Amino acid sequence: MDFQTFDARGYRTVDVRTGYGEWVAHYEDTVEDVMDLALLERLVEPSWPAVRRAADLGCGTGRTGQWLRDRGVEHIDGVDVTPEMLDLARRRGVHERLVEADAAATGLPGGSYDLVICSLIDEHIDDLRPLYAEAHRLAAPGAAFVLVTFHPHFIMTSGMPTHYTNAEGEPVAIATNVHLISDHVAAGLGTGWRLAELHENVIDDAWLKIKPKWERFRNHPFSAAYTWRAD
Ligand SMILES: C[S@@+](CC[C@H](N)C(=O)[O-])C[C@H]1O[C@@H](n2cnc3c(N)ncnc32)[C@H](O)[C@@H]1O
Repeated sequence: MDFQTFDARGYRTVDVRTGYGEWVAHYEDTVEDVMDLALLERLVEPSWPAVRRAADLGCGTGRTGQWLRDRGVEHIDGVDVTPEMLDLARRRGVHERLVEADAAATGLPGGSYDLVICSLIDEHIDDLRPLYAEAHRLAAPGAAFVLVTFHPHFIMTSGMPTHYTNAEGEPVAIATNVHLISDHVAAGLGTGWRLAELHENVIDDAWLKIKPKWERFRNHPFSAAYTWRAD
C-alpha cells in the first residue's frame, strides 16, 4: 500500500540507496533497540544458540548480526543494497560473507540456512512476496524465517515515513510502503511458510522514556515480529 495517502510530514523522499548512504553515519545513534531487538528477545522460536547458519537480509551496519552473534550464532551471511551500510558491517566483522544485492534476489546458496532474518527493511519493499519467496529458497528444511517490521497501524496513525536528518539539517524520507498484517500472512503462506509466532509491541513506559513526546501514541502498536517455519 502506498504510504503517500498517510504522509503527515511531507518530507522530500529519496530511494533506499541514497537515503541509507547518507544516514549511515548516524544510523546507529537513531535506531532504538526497543523497535526490533526487544521483540527478538520475546520470540520463543528459534533457539538462537542452535542456529548453525543465518542469512541476514537487509543487514545494514550489522546491528541484527551483532545481536545474533551475542546469542551464539557463529555463521552469518549478510545482504544489503546500500554499499555504505555494508562498509560499516564489514568493519564490524560479525558476518562471514557480505553481499551487495537485493533481499529478494540475494544470489546466496539455496537450502543452506536454518535461520533467515530480516529486520526493519520490508517497509522499503513494495511487494512482499518475492522477499518471502527468496527467504524460502534460502531455507534449509525446518528453517525459521524471522521478520521484524514496523506495524502498519503506527505508520498510518503517525503519518511518519522512515526518515533521517541529513548533513544540512533537512529531514529526508526514505521510500516507505505500508504492509498490512494480512499482506504478510498472504506472502508467507503463499510461498510455503507456516506461521509459528507473532508478537506486537506497543509504545509503553520504556518507549516513552526514550521519546517522551510520543505520549499521544501510548499503547499504540509500533512494530511486530513474525517467526515462520519451513517444513
Ligand atoms: C532500517 S535498516 C535495518 C538494518 C538492520 N537490519 C538493523 O536492524 O539495524 C534497513 C536496511 O535495509 C536495506 N534495504 C532496504 N531495502 C532493501 C532491499 N530491497 N534489499 C536489500 N537491502 C535493503 C537498507 O539499505 C538498510 O541498510
